[in-house]
Amino acid sequence: MLVLGIESSCDETAAALVRDGREVLSSVIASQIETHRAFGGVVPELASREHLRNIGYVVRQAFREAGCRQEEIDGIAVTRGPGLIGSLLVGVSYAKAMAWATGKPLVPVHHIEGHIFSAFIENPGIEYPLLALTVSGGHTSLIHAAQPGRYEVIGRTRDDAAGEALDKIAKFLGLGYPGGPVIDRLARDGDPRRFPFSIPKISDGRLDFSFSGFKTAALRHITEAGIRPVRPGARPPRVVLDLVASYQRAIVDTLIGQAKKAEARLRPRSLLLVGGVACNSLLRASFRETFEAGGRPPGVYIPSPAYTTDNAAMIAAAATPRFSGSPSLDLELNASAGLPLVG
Ligand code: KG4
Ligand code: ZN
Repeated sequence: MLVLGIESSCDETAAALVRDGREVLSSVIASQIETHRAFGGVVPELASREHLRNIGYVVRQAFREAGCRQEEIDGIAVTRGPGLIGSLLVGVSYAKAMAWATGKPLVPVHHIEGHIFSAFIENPGIEYPLLALTVSGGHTSLIHAAQPGRYEVIGRTRDDAAGEALDKIAKFLGLGYPGGPVIDRLARDGDPRRFPFSIPKISDGRLDFSFSGFKTAALRHITEAGIRPVRPGARPPRVVLDLVASYQRAIVDTLIGQAKKAEARLRPRSLLLVGGVACNSLLRASFRETFEAGGRPPGVYIPSPAYTTDNAAMIAAAATPRFSGSPSLDLELNASAGLPLVG
């Protein structure tokens, strides 16, 4: 089963050719980081224009790198939502047109299901029930799947996503965009105990997250310590390194704390850490350290960095088990900015 995946939910235009959900023949990603850098965040209107400009090239390049032709694919998979509506529409319209022109079946994919499947690419034997900590710039949630396709969201952020919380403080401190990778790097030289952050208590039994209090606390520390934004290209002073290390530590401790409670409650067979923030070196190490100790559960899975941030290989992988015999195209299929994860 050879599937073309297309992803355009936020600021990466991506296409990939994947065989049997695990053999990645090509994975092409056109990043828009340079377009949005000057604004310190994704500008939706610019994002859709960039997707329009890039999508044809990205799909052709995916075929070129894989060394195969359109006629050879068995189907097309596309991210239907959630995400920025103008961005999603570019991918969905392109995929529908291509399915119509080639007669190949089209399967729409939920972006978060795609992130979950990013772990299956390198580990096709992942067992259910699984618990996935999904952490990105747009989402932070704990998802339980008792069986394939049967998803239950058992915790989600009540305000910012973890990546968004990292990006915003990095922007405020003048550290560059996107902030997550910069904070990851700078925090290695900082003291994570210098600045206190109190972890919010969520008392209604849900395993939700909240990060906005950390942002407020960080702004207070910035004012009290008299920290000024770092000039472009300048080396951040010790106090900034300590602040970002303390801030990152608080975010990682919150994520791990809720994942630990969920694991104890649900006892899954597999634990997954996915989404762009799963690139974070402290989070990766803490996740492994926490859950591999004691030999339970049997499987801890964190994809390689190439598959954690948005890509189309994960979309193709998620769709692969869902292609049935029927190639009929649903012309009513539409993008959905707030698509819920149900199953
Ligand atoms: O999954 P993704 O590519 O897009 C969304 O679906 O949002 O995630 C992007 C997020 C950004 O917030 C970025 O700052 C964060 O992932 N990120 C990181 C790292 N690499 C990317 N955060 C922390 N440490 C990293 N190394
Ligand atoms: Zn994503």
